[in-house]
Amino acid sequence: MTDFREDGAAALEWAARYLERVPELPVLAQVRPGELTAKLPASAPEQPESFADVLRDMDELLLPALTNWQSPRFFSYFAVTSSEPAILAELLAAALNQVAIVWRASPASTELELRVADWVRQLLGLPTGWHGHIEDTASTSTLAALIAARHVTGRDVVVCSEHAHSSVEKDARMLGMELRKVPVDDELRMRVDGYDLDDVACVVATVGTTSFASVDPVRELAERAHAAGAWLHVDAAYAGSSWICEEERWSADGVELADSLVVNPHKWLLVPTDCSLVWTARPDEWREAFTLTPEHLRTSDEAFSLADSGRRSAAASGR
Ligand SMILES: Cc1ncc(COP(=O)(O)O)c(C=O)c1O
Repeated sequence: MTDFREDGAAALEWAARYLERVPELPVLAQVRPGELTAKLPASAPEQPESFADVLRDMDELLLPALTNWQSPRFFSYFAVTSSEPAILAELLAAALNQVAIVWRASPASTELELRVADWVRQLLGLPTGWHGHIEDTASTSTLAALIAARHVTGRDVVVCSEHAHSSVEKDARMLGMELRKVPVDDELRMRVDGYDLDDVACVVATVGTTSFASVDPVRELAERAHAAGAWLHVDAAYAGSSWICEEERWSADGVELADSLVVNPHKWLLVPTDCSLVWTARPDEWREAFTLTPEHLRTSDEAFSLADSGRRSAAASGR
C-alpha cells in the first residue's frame, strides 16, 4: 500500500536533493545506447515495489542515464529553467488534473491561463489587446499560426530565414504547405529584399535564432508581408523572454506589427517543459480558423473556450 503523504515527502526530499547535487553531477549521461534498456524488465512487473525501491531505481538506474539539463554547466541545445516554485506548481496541477477544453470544463484553468498570459504580455511590453494562450511547444504554436495564416489568406506558401528553427519546416510539411527559405545577410538576419511575397500566406521572422541568436528585421518584414496580404508570425521562442529587461527591448523592434508571436517560458522564464505562450493580434480570425464545437462540448456558457484557440493537447490544457 502506498502512503501518499509519506511517499510524497520522500519524493520531494529526493527532488530537493537532486537540485542540490546537480551542479556536481556529470552533465552528460554516463551510459552507452541500450545500456539502460538492458537493465529494465522486458515486461511490466507483476508485483508492486516499495516507494523506497522506486527512489533507489531513480538513483541507480535513471540518474546515470540522464543528461542533466538542470545543471548550471549545461550549455547545449538551449536553456531550460525549471525552478522550485514551478516544480511545486506541477505537483498541484497534477493533483487537480484539469482538462480545460471549454470554460465549463475548468473555469479556473481557463480564466487563470488567460489572465497570466496577459501578465506576461505586459511584462514583455507587447501591445494591449493581443490575445494569449498556452501551447505545449513553440513548434505547435507556429503550426497553429500557419493554420491561421492559411485560413485568412487562402494561400499555401511559407517564407522564413535559412536559419529559422526546423519546426517551421516541419510544420509546413505537416500542413502540406510550400516552404521557401530566404538567405541571410552578414549578420545572419533574414534578407528582406529580392523575393516576391504575392502568393505567400505567412512570413515567419525569428527573434533569436537557435544557432546564432540573430534577430531578423521584423519591422521591414512585417511591412512587406502586410503590403502583400501575408500574415507575419514572429518566432521569439528563444529570445522573447529577454524583453522583460528594458535593455534587451531593442530586439523587439517591429514585433508590435506581428499578427502572431510565440515565446517559450520553458526556456527562460523559470517553468518546466512544456510551456509555450502564443499571442495573436487577430484573435477573431485566429479563433475562426479553429472553432469547431462538437456536440459533446456544446454549452450555453457565453465564455471563451481554450479549445477554440487551436490547442491540440488535452494535457497542455490541464495547466
Ligand atoms: C527559435 C526557436 N524556435 C522554436 C524552437 C522550438 O521550441 P519547442 O521545443 O518549444 O518546440 C526553438 C527551440 O530551441 C527555438 O530556439
